[in-house]
Amino acid sequence: MKKVTAALLAGAAALAFTASAQAEPDGEAIYNQACMACHMTGAAGAPIRGDEAAWAPRLEKGMDTLYANSIDGFQAMPPRGGHMNLSDEEVKASVDYLLEPVL
Ligand code: HEC
Repeated sequence: MKKVTAALLAGAAALAFTASAQAEPDGEAIYNQACMACHMTGAAGAPIRGDEAAWAPRLEKGMDTLYANSIDGFQAMPPRGGHMNLSDEEVKASVDYLLEPVL
């Protein structure tokens, strides 16, 4: 029970912080900071932003899976791009920006 309460409190604190910092996370800014190093160059086999052929099979998994894999990590893709300070909403906003040219 204690653990659940702590998790809820942490979640509420994170939400309050995000809400006061910025209503809508800026996906482009987060991408530039946290994702570009790999997703612009293809480092470590990362699918490049705008590369339709690379993204097509991944898009078939559905956005929920792509969001979850970005948050939890997926093979060579580190959780939250290695930026553990990012909230779920911030990661999702950067995923939206990353995928925008191929949707
Ligand atoms: C250290 C390099 C690196 C960084 C930084 C990085 N990625 Fe990735 N990402 C990868 C690699 C490599 C893959 C391919 C993983 C595979 O298929 O084996 C990947 C795959 C993905 C996928 C596809 C997952 C799937 O299920 O096919 C998404 C979406 C994604 N990254 C989003 C992001 C976002 C958003 C960020 C920034 C918050 C980010 N990545 C930062 C290396 C990185």
